[in-house]
Amino acid sequence: MSLIDEAAAVRLNAYAPYSKFKVGAALKSASGAVYVGCNVENIAYPEGTCAEAGAIAAMIASGETQFVEAAVIAESPSPVPPCGGCRQKLAEFAVEGARIAMATTDGVVQEMPVSELLPGAFDASHMDQV
Ligand code: THU
Repeated sequence: MSLIDEAAAVRLNAYAPYSKFKVGAALKSASGAVYVGCNVENIAYPEGTCAEAGAIAAMIASGETQFVEAAVIAESPSPVPPCGGCRQKLAEFAVEGARIAMATTDGVVQEMPVSELLPGAFDASHMDQV
């Protein structure tokens, strides 16, 4: 199964009764394993979590810390980009050269390097004086 197909499959399990916007995400780790996540909303709206955060949590829980490829999919007129917070989360665990594929359930795919998602990202170099 392609990484986009993995994301599409887990998307069906998304818990999104409030926005009705189901998102699926999949990460291929450095070892080649695939970790998936979906958005999980809450009646206390800010407590909801994004699909990307779920996939990252699954990867970390399995003992891996780096991914080489990511995929995100939603039913949307155009490929859904990760939100700002997820861009920072993805930057933490992406290997250099990692790529992300953003897809719609209609088959439109946009691909780019993860590093281009968040220009000027906060990183360890900013904490050098601490
Ligand atoms: N959402 C994600 O899971 N990932 C994204 O990249 C964009 C937004 C979720 C959060 C919320 O449950 C719903 O989509 C609507 O914002």
